[in-house]
Amino acid sequence: MRENIVEVKDLTKKFDGRAGGFTAVDCLSFVIKEGEIMGLLGPNGAGKTTTIRMLLNLITPSSGSIRIFGLDFSGHTEEILQKINFSSSYTNMDWRLSAWENLMVFAKLYHVSSPKEKIKELMERFEIWELRNQRVNNLSSGEATRLNLCKSLINDPEVLFLDEPTASLDPYIADKTRKILKGIQKERSLTIIYTSHNMAELEKMCDYLVLLHKGKIIAKGSPTEVTKNILKIEKEEPDLEEVFLKIAGGAHEII
Ligand SMILES: Nc1ncnc2c1ncn2[C@@H]1O[C@H](COP(=O)(O)OP(=O)(O)OP(=O)(O)O)[C@@H](O)[C@H]1O
Ligand SMILES: [Mg+2]
Repeated sequence: MRENIVEVKDLTKKFDGRAGGFTAVDCLSFVIKEGEIMGLLGPNGAGKTTTIRMLLNLITPSSGSIRIFGLDFSGHTEEILQKINFSSSYTNMDWRLSAWENLMVFAKLYHVSSPKEKIKELMERFEIWELRNQRVNNLSSGEATRLNLCKSLINDPEVLFLDEPTASLDPYIADKTRKILKGIQKERSLTIIYTSHNMAELEKMCDYLVLLHKGKIIAKGSPTEVTKNILKIEKEEPDLEEVFLKIAGGAHEII
């Protein structure tokens, strides 16, 4: 039996600033097992990034609980943060430093035992080793994304959060990147939580999906189960594109 690595119960986030407040994430519950790739799927503003930010302890939930490795963030923050990592557009890199220097800063923060070797291994794997001396503000967005992915793997995390990791990659590099991530995930049973607006990518990458709309879960399961559940027809193959169009178009109100 694979262990439950992430357990989320009744997770809710309310923000002030709109009349009467605003519930961005509304009572989410789900479990992610060791070695699973879970996709968070939903239209713009559905609450995906807010959920990931709570799972990373970057913002505090309004209510509900999060357990990672069976532990609560309160009292175990450092222990949990050493074993997880993330890649997203909100990662802060120092634009004055080179790509290599930035990774060295993160390697030190995570107490990586052989930082030079680790940085070289990752930069070679993501094919940006030749950019190591380039300042971060001179990188193209696709290059910066791959640097971000190297950063996300610097501490050999057990759980990896990827918020739209392939959004700025061209189709060829995106395909390569998915293969690299799948390869790493298989090598050491890495658990991954993934968001993307690329439906074909979610079908290929994810064992399990959580479909969000206006902060609420409206379907969970394998890509095929979610497709059957939302489209209400028997389909042997997932068709998330059709699912997404139905949800975003508002048809979920009548589900
Ligand atoms: N700090 C904040 N203060 C107020 N509202 C916020 C804050 N952060 C997010 N929101 C709102 O919460 C909702 C969910 O945002 P979130 O970023 O989680 O969506 P998302 O599913 O990641 O969307 P996208 O696909 O566009 O990335 C949005 O309506 C957003 O405007
Ligand atoms: Mg988002």
